[in-house]
Amino acid sequence: MSEMMETIFAPADAEHLAKAGVLIAQGQLVAFPTETVYGLGANAWDENAVRAIFEAKGRPQDNPLIVHIAQESMLDQLVRFVPDSAKKLINKFWPGALTIILPKSARVSPVVTAGLDTVAVRMPSNPAARALIEAAGVPIAAPSANRSGLPSPTRAEHVYQDMCGRIAMILDGGACEVGLESAVIDLSGDVPILLRPGAVTHEMLCAVLGEVKISSGVLASLKDGEAARSPGLKHKHYAPSYSRVVLLEGDAAAIAAHIDAFVLEHPHVCAAVLKQDAARAVRASARIVNAGADDAAYASALFDALRMLDDEKTEVIFCQGVPMQGMGLALMNRLLRAAAFQVQKV
Ligand code: TXA
Ligand code: MG
Repeated sequence: MSEMMETIFAPADAEHLAKAGVLIAQGQLVAFPTETVYGLGANAWDENAVRAIFEAKGRPQDNPLIVHIAQESMLDQLVRFVPDSAKKLINKFWPGALTIILPKSARVSPVVTAGLDTVAVRMPSNPAARALIEAAGVPIAAPSANRSGLPSPTRAEHVYQDMCGRIAMILDGGACEVGLESAVIDLSGDVPILLRPGAVTHEMLCAVLGEVKISSGVLASLKDGEAARSPGLKHKHYAPSYSRVVLLEGDAAAIAAHIDAFVLEHPHVCAAVLKQDAARAVRASARIVNAGADDAAYASALFDALRMLDDEKTEVIFCQGVPMQGMGLALMNRLLRAAAFQVQKV
């Protein structure tokens, strides 16, 4: 680890966006808000700056980065060609929470793609993210701005916790609307494959493309020796560092009853992240985070809740499982990983 540096923490206003653009152009790292989660950005054309991302995050070298652009014209510099399937998705979902994987151009460094011959590209909708890319004047390579393995940051304070002293600047743009990372779809092969579900849902992608395969790594851990289509699928993800996450599957009443019984036997040990119906049904005095009525609200609350309860040194965090439709598929993909693929039916 190189020496600690001073990290500027500043609002994502015009003055600081301009300053951040200069820092990126100079090869420094800047964390910035997007509509999904905070990103840790570097000039995608600058190999040394991109290498510094891996070091600041403690990220395995074999896990490639997403390149963020502000205009479609930047895409042509990054990829070899744009197939019709990609054009359709871009028209419908960009800017937004969708990352598209295509064959990379010769100009894209293997440091960005971890040696793969494809590159992941996304055009975010968050105005500060777009303004930063414009100010830098280059595409920005950016993973989520967490230390590797921890839940992605959905507030600037989360980034500060993980990255203070490791990067030049953190732009504070408030809480991220979506709260889960973008959907990642691979369009480099014969059939489209969803590698990571997100707020642009599998159903929405199918409505545009017809059939979209769901990668085997989305809902199951990879078997020993099974090759990861997306290297990110094989690494530990989203788990708090202290707490153990237990994923409960059942209806709201059964989940509440399970927590009531658990608290009777083990007081002061657990907390729970629940949707409104289950949260209201718990009678025991336990630390309950009410994550709202629908899956979109649950998604935007989840990582913040996991980080907060972890900071409180909660031993067990119960999380509510949801049906795997719409946003529910993205939620379950993250929840299963946080819970190390253990599900408790109640
Ligand atoms: O919402 C998001 O996507 C956020 C914001 C900052 O844009 N970024 C993000 O990046 O979540 P990261 O690095 O945490 O996740 C990127 C995922 C990883 O699972 C990685 O393995 C996969 O995308 N990926 C990137 N390039 C790939 C490629 N060429 N082929 C297959 N998977 C790729
Ligand atoms: Mg990440």
